Amino acid sequence: SVPIRTICCIGAGYVGGPTAAVIALHNPHIRVVVVDRDQRRIDAWKSRHLPIHEPGLEDVVRIARDGAAETRRRGDSPTRHTMDAARQPNLFFSTACIETIEVADMCLISVNTPTKTRGVGAGRATDMAALEGACRDIAMHAKAGCILVEKSTVPCKTGQLIKDIMEAHRPGVVFPVLSNPEFLSEGTAIRDLMQPDRVVIGCESTISGHRAAAALANLYAAWVPRSRIAPIGIWSSELCKLAANAMLAQRISSINSISAICERTDADVGEIAKSIGLDPRIGPQFLKAGLGFGGSCFRKDIASLTYLAESLGLPEVAAYWQQVLTMNDFQRDRFAGHVIATLNNSLRGKKVAILGYAFKKNTGDARESPALDVIRILLEEGPKSITIYDPLCSEADIKRELSVLERDYAVSMPDGPVEVVPDPYAACGNSNAVLILTDWDMFKNGKPVTQSSKPVTIAETYDGATPTDVLHLTPRIERVTINKPPTPPRTPKLSPLAPELNTRLLPEPPCPADCVV
Ligand code: NAD
Ligand code: UDX
Repeated sequence: SVPIRTICCIGAGYVGGPTAAVIALHNPHIRVVVVDRDQRRIDAWKSRHLPIHEPGLEDVVRIARDGAAETRRRGDSPTRHTMDAARQPNLFFSTACIETIEVADMCLISVNTPTKTRGVGAGRATDMAALEGACRDIAMHAKAGCILVEKSTVPCKTGQLIKDIMEAHRPGVVFPVLSNPEFLSEGTAIRDLMQPDRVVIGCESTISGHRAAAALANLYAAWVPRSRIAPIGIWSSELCKLAANAMLAQRISSINSISAICERTDADVGEIAKSIGLDPRIGPQFLKAGLGFGGSCFRKDIASLTYLAESLGLPEVAAYWQQVLTMNDFQRDRFAGHVIATLNNSLRGKKVAILGYAFKKNTGDARESPALDVIRILLEEGPKSITIYDPLCSEADIKRELSVLERDYAVSMPDGPVEVVPDPYAACGNSNAVLILTDWDMFKNGKPVTQSSKPVTIAETYDGATPTDVLHLTPRIERVTINKPPTPPRTPKLSPLAPELNTRLLPEPPCPADCVV
């Protein structure tokens, strides 16, 4: 196969950064340079405070970026990767995109592919601007024969688009194009990359395609068993990523649809998920009913799939997948509706606390959180305030996400209705309802997520409800009111604020409107 000495990873985001770091860790003789146009992101990758939070990421980056001598000097615990004291840094971060592309043997394209917000296909079609931009840079500056790897999630046949861009700029020069979709989940990115279920490598059925695929497979074989590296056709590879996400999301919508029936019948969606998950043909994963799926991938990938189906003249297929999104919206609307109904159909003069903004636990990613839709619906009822606490999402990131509500609700005004606070107790104090919108463990077990986040004992007062429980419990909302006496905290390190909070949250006499949802 083609020898690979230098890899350029374009896009230093949630996929590009961790993927490049793990490839560099396991291939110490290959130079891996991650480039991005965003200077602040690159600066953060070079610093001690990485731009994304992923368990295990810091260790991997430190070893590959700083080398063995430096990690030993700092006193980091030795690992098998730092046993070789001569291990040099081989992971670099840079904004010098062109210079890096010029010397690369392989370019991993990990740029963002969001949904188009304007023009033809707005709301469904994939916005290919970033990918096209990266490809143009490669076309103009890459060495002949450089291998192009699509890591971004793209519509089926994007490989052809890339080849057309290359041909337009460098007619007659061969640039093999591979599809190598990324299946990592946020919050478990390093584990998923270190022990992937499968590595899919799609190539064209040509000699140069197969040679390029073998070169990429060799990189992965440094730590992934060959049996898990699946060579397939390039179009299947592109489509399998959209199909995988669509089917995972479909399971969530399926169980959520059952949760709606449960709420009207007193059946328990948790019990149902458990019993159907015992059937090995179904399996237990992705059957947790809740607020509906969030995150930067599921919605946009299903939108892309429906658009693709429609463009191919398959409206029935498009309608089938569209229903997965419809059910997801229904779940949030229903949840917010429950909250409003429980608060006597009026939020005027009331304070709502929101615990958790991230789209799921163990990530600081505030993008595409189900919380945003819930907040939008609640704001329509004119609450006095909505106070948000999340252990990892920064105030700036949450505010950026909320800025889409600015025009209608002036959320960023100093006396606006939404506030992000760094303290869970401050968020909950004097509130009429506490909504747990992310299933962070700290809301159940009281353990802080980061050193700076405070232990939370709120869970003591509401039976450890998770979003799953929440939806199930909503019809029986009286039973989860926080009017029950607080049990003694299990965690010895109780925040001095806790008793005060508990008293403030426990009105005397019990007020029917005050509840934890
Ligand atoms: P991201 O927005 O976090 O990062 C993309 C980065 O690319 C940005 O920092 C942006 O500045 C940079 N970029 C864009 N155009 C560029 C250019 N021409 N040159 C240099 N840099 C450029 O996105 P992400 O979450 O890492 O996702 C990247 C891709 O991977 C998407 O297609 C996504 O669907 C897919 N994916 C994401 C996940 C996930 O969990 N986030 C999982 C699997 C696949
Ligand atoms: C997803 C895919 O899992 C991953 O393979 C792909 O590469 C990127 O998209 P991610 O978005 O990081 O990963 O998170 P995931 O764990 O899949 O959760 C997505 C959403 O579904 C979250 O909002 C989560 O809370 C929700 N979810 C998940 C449920 O509501 N119920 C479940 O049973 C599982």
